[in-house]
Amino acid sequence: MKSILVKNNEEIKKMRKAGKLAAEVLEMIEHYIVYDITTEEINKICHDYIIKKQKSIPACLGYNGYPKSICTSINDVVCHGIPNVKQKLKEGDIINIDVAIIHNGYYSDTSKMFIIGKPSILSKRLCHVAQESLYLALNLIKPNMPLYKIGQTIEKYVKKQKFSVVKEYCGHGIGKNFHEDPQILHCDNTDPGIILKPGMTFTIEPMINTGSNRVRCMKDGWTIKTKDHGLSAQYEHTILVTDKGCEILTLRKEENISQIFKINNKDLKYIK
Ligand code: MF3
Ligand code: CO
Ligand code: CO
Repeated sequence: MKSILVKNNEEIKKMRKAGKLAAEVLEMIEHYIVYDITTEEINKICHDYIIKKQKSIPACLGYNGYPKSICTSINDVVCHGIPNVKQKLKEGDIINIDVAIIHNGYYSDTSKMFIIGKPSILSKRLCHVAQESLYLALNLIKPNMPLYKIGQTIEKYVKKQKFSVVKEYCGHGIGKNFHEDPQILHCDNTDPGIILKPGMTFTIEPMINTGSNRVRCMKDGWTIKTKDHGLSAQYEHTILVTDKGCEILTLRKEENISQIFKINNKDLKYIK
């Protein structure tokens, strides 16, 4: 039996703080994501901000030997792209920046896509579908829901849009540890065992491809690319299961809860 930790109020407060800080890194970096900046420069700005401004620890740095503080995954890179001094952003690139931090002993983990200059219709639609698939899953979450519904719903929606879902990488429980039980699959699965309970905290982080969902790991041991070199996009949030639904711990200012949950503003107080 898997041991899924349910967080108490004290822990939830700390997770909320950690989540807010990770979201703020993505808000801060937006301004720097422009033509010609290198992914190493982006890494350095995030690293310094997390350490000096936020008095936190970049969770990726040294994790299983990972050499940098964030992941930067461009175009056909699905995830775990390593920032590099030789890699400059080009017109039309799509880049996922994945930030995970540790604050006061608790982890948070979040990522979003940025587009450089004018996007192609395809890359814009891919990023939109990746984000919508995450939001769709967030709309489902409530106590006593079977966990498999998340993956089932994401895959059904993505297939309808004629894109594919990467199966090798999933979301994860998170708290005092970076990766805890349960695994959150983003594809159809029918494990009936796991039922959501208030106090669970986990990430949802679908990786969506324009072509096939097959992936390959590069020689650096980290960078995951699409096998067919099609584009890939990902969005990730850390969430808390509440009595009524879920709270997005890594919500950014640009994101509108009432739009995400398709509700009226007057209902907002019932969500938090
Ligand atoms: N942030 C990634 C996740 O969403 C994990 C990156 S591990 C690293 O789970 F070592 F590559 F940084
Ligand atoms: Co994650
Ligand atoms: Co992440």
